Amino acid sequence: MTDPNLRVLISSDRIQARIRELGEQISRDYPDGPLHLICILKGATFFMSDLARALKRDVFVDFMGISTYGKGKTSSGEVKVTKDLDISLEGADVLVVEDIVDSGVTLNYLLHVLEQRRPRSIRIVALLDKPERRLRPVDVSYVGFQIPDEFVVGYGLDYANAYRNLRDVSVLAPHVYES
Ligand code: PRP
Repeated sequence: MTDPNLRVLISSDRIQARIRELGEQISRDYPDGPLHLICILKGATFFMSDLARALKRDVFVDFMGISTYGKGKTSSGEVKVTKDLDISLEGADVLVVEDIVDSGVTLNYLLHVLEQRRPRSIRIVALLDKPERRLRPVDVSYVGFQIPDEFVVGYGLDYANAYRNLRDVSVLAPHVYES
């Protein structure tokens, strides 16, 4: 079924091929020992599930919920942890898994929170990066795709909670969210 409001930006095949590459690269970059994957709810769950299986090493998986107000509109977006981790990060190699970095407000805040938990190392992997939208600096170690400033849905990304389960990343027609 084709949705006339969607235009495919990154096909499922390209996403999966890029995740295999990221899996190889990340597996090479880390020494032995488990890698702690922290998935930021909810959009990143799809990416984390595929990335974890592309990593040729032991992983621990944990989840964190964040809510942000004023995100993308001002540089003073207010961020709150709504679901905390279950596993301690002390001495751990941590990889934060995000579906998209937009203003950078969420990750900029989150890194400060996580660094206080004394991990051995902490890096970020994001499937999508919209550098044009950045309001706060964020060092993203691994990026799947840099994309233009368009409203995208699918592969975890939503509009009003819909579209998350689509296999491709697609641009949503503006009249859908502007109406
Ligand atoms: C998205 C995304 C990041 C954040 C990035 O989450 O998953 O967490 O926005 O935006 P920023 O760089 O401007 O902070 P969202 O708030 O849409 O939540 P969801 O994943 O539960 O849909």
